[in-house]
Amino acid sequence: MGTTNIERLSTGIKGFDKLISGGIPRGFFVAVVGEPGTGKTIFSLHYSWQGVKENDKVIYVTTEESRESIIRQGKMFDMSLDEAVDNNKMVIIDALMKSVNDEWTLNETDIDELIRKIIDAKKKLGYGRARLVIDSMSTFWLDKPAMARKYSYSVKRILYKWNFTALLVSQYAITTSSAFGWGVEHVADGIIRFGRRISDGELKRYVLVEKMRQTPHDLRIHFIEIQHGIGMKITEGTNLRKEDIALPEKVKEHMRNNIKIDGEYKP
Ligand SMILES: Nc1ncnc2c1ncn2[C@@H]1O[C@H](COP(=O)(O)OP(=O)(O)OP(=O)(O)O)[C@@H](O)[C@H]1O
Ligand SMILES: [Mg+2]
Repeated sequence: MGTTNIERLSTGIKGFDKLISGGIPRGFFVAVVGEPGTGKTIFSLHYSWQGVKENDKVIYVTTEESRESIIRQGKMFDMSLDEAVDNNKMVIIDALMKSVNDEWTLNETDIDELIRKIIDAKKKLGYGRARLVIDSMSTFWLDKPAMARKYSYSVKRILYKWNFTALLVSQYAITTSSAFGWGVEHVADGIIRFGRRISDGELKRYVLVEKMRQTPHDLRIHFIEIQHGIGMKITEGTNLRKEDIALPEKVKEHMRNNIKIDGEYKP
């Protein structure tokens, strides 16, 4: 059985598509997870900009950075997201600024309002293939981590009919790693994990495709580079194994011991 009959969406990132047999299968909901500063937002921006270039409808939900900050970050890599918005190719839904005068802000970080706004945005952009980024989903379960899985499921169940191929970003903080914050991964068709390690006094970032349904994918860790003016680039695979980059067992043990029954983490 070949994989050629599956329509795949390019991520727009140099070196990444070939790790996943050409791109993300259309209609998939893919979890993009990782620690702070590892490249999840920049990855998502490339994916969005590639959508603009391919005439897809693009919806980007930003919860921890303002719309302006996202546009500014895009500009550093030659992406004119503001023009895409002006030309009705893209909607950036801002859940941070909560401006009453703006149609595309979320007033509550409430999952139902999020879904409603995304559907409104899709209606505005019109029919056709669409890309959705929710950066990040974690915001919606900050004070109720036990809801992570249920919310992720709702988003997928309701939005899959709307022609989206989606990236659901989720932070992977020390407090949410082992037991919680895995909601997105459970319902996702794919998992792309970003991470970091210090090697010889230097910060190294990497990406690992942990899961991609219907796709023979690369199983190795690839270091990434983020370059001013260019953006994210994937370098050759390394021979590091997942165990080499996992949290130390002592840290995991500490986290397990500090999780209360009702799902709250006690630092
Ligand atoms: N113009 C640039 N040139 C080079 N590196 C940059 C540039 N802009 C950002 N970076 C790098 O990218 C990092 C931020 O990446 P990104 O915002 O994608 O992380 P993230 O995984 O989304 O983090 P968070 O979980 O905090 O949102 C910065 O810390 C910086 O190292
Ligand atoms: Mg981010």
